[in-house]
Amino acid sequence: MLNFNIHVPTRIHFGRGKIEDLGKELLTYGNKVLLVYGGGSIKRSGLYDQVLQVFQNNDITHVELSGVQPNPRISSVRQGVELCKKHGIDLVLAIGGGSTIDCAKIIAAGASYDGDAWDFFTRKAKINYALPIGTVLTLAATGSEMNPNAVISNDDTKEKLGTGSPVLIPRFSILDPEYSFTVPPEQTAAGTADIMSHVFEQYFSPTSGTFIQDRLAEAMLKTCIHYGPIAIAQPDNYEARANLMWTGSLALNGLLGAGKRTDWATHDIEHEISALYDVTHGLGLAVLTPYWMHYVLDEQTAPRLAEYARNVWEIEESDDIIAAQTAIKKTAEFFKSLNLAGNLKEIGVQQEHLTEMAEKVTSRGPLGAFKKLEYQDVLNILQMAYDGSKPWIT
Ligand code: NZQ
Ligand code: ZN
Repeated sequence: MLNFNIHVPTRIHFGRGKIEDLGKELLTYGNKVLLVYGGGSIKRSGLYDQVLQVFQNNDITHVELSGVQPNPRISSVRQGVELCKKHGIDLVLAIGGGSTIDCAKIIAAGASYDGDAWDFFTRKAKINYALPIGTVLTLAATGSEMNPNAVISNDDTKEKLGTGSPVLIPRFSILDPEYSFTVPPEQTAAGTADIMSHVFEQYFSPTSGTFIQDRLAEAMLKTCIHYGPIAIAQPDNYEARANLMWTGSLALNGLLGAGKRTDWATHDIEHEISALYDVTHGLGLAVLTPYWMHYVLDEQTAPRLAEYARNVWEIEESDDIIAAQTAIKKTAEFFKSLNLAGNLKEIGVQQEHLTEMAEKVTSRGPLGAFKKLEYQDVLNILQMAYDGSKPWIT
């Protein structure tokens, strides 16, 4: 295990009715709030009205930025920054999924910066200050509610880039699993795949001696495999929604990656896909993951993939390579059982863009840590995922 520092200052309010804590949290930071939300799911569910009631009960004034899109755009960030500067906002409150939260984070950073917020992504500027951020989570997936990261798309440059800073970690997050009852099946499935991918990116690591992180990771994978299908079949199953929601936060709050080198190649490749085609992040990950696993499987990586096979899928096979191949097949079948696409064609990717995506994503250097991937490796993975043949079935 490597040395590490960890500090996760988000106050979590988890459970039914926890919106009752919102007023007190907000007043800790002031009484002028920028409320950020997406395309309207919070209005349909009634959450919006509940939050307005909290504002009224606590004499909180608010300004709104609505319409934040999935794969949030820098244009929404710019609108939010303007509102913060104009109205002297004290706190940015995001209500929604990862897109809304990420947008709110960069608005909060942009409000304390004189230049354009896209500078944070081109590395022209570093995020040193941000307004306080709070969240009410409605979709279990990204972990953004408890982490320092944000991913934003730029329609002009066709880029989707990430950034991060400790000052972007939400001060508080309200996690009421009931708010995720209305998440449609395809988003529940994509969210489950995203959570699993976050675990994979940290579990498949070249660092040894991380028994505790690895067993935690396996428990999280098992939770997704158990509760993902239940949440899809029974959207208002509290137990399933609660377990997925808490797993989503734990999977990407620094806990699993502490003391390890982590991979993130699959995420890097997926971000190129959602930058060009605006596809749902978790859907892209579900397609790529089995192909990535298949491509990185060799004598050196087989023991860890076999550990995944035995501890998560309970595959009783003594040969590491065969165990690993069986687990890859199980992973692909699991995503298929959630009705997620099995190849890139199905999600609208065109073959002519594969080279461009591979070039772009490796332009800053090779990807991954579990196994390093150069341009040709990424292209091979994209090509396999595009063709959709199932090379793990021997
Ligand atoms: O916009 P609304 O109307 O709210 O609808 C959303 C949206 O259409 C809907 N939704 C959310 N909660 C709902 C609901 N519909 C009904 N009932 C509810 N309770 O779901 C759709 C997708 O929402 P979105 O926020 O885009 O989903 P997700 O949470 O998966 O976020 C994806 C974004 O986060 C980034 C992704 O790249 C993508 O841009 N990521 C952020 C990370 C981070 N900050 O740490 C890490 C991740 O790896 C990821 O890259
Ligand atoms: Zn993700």
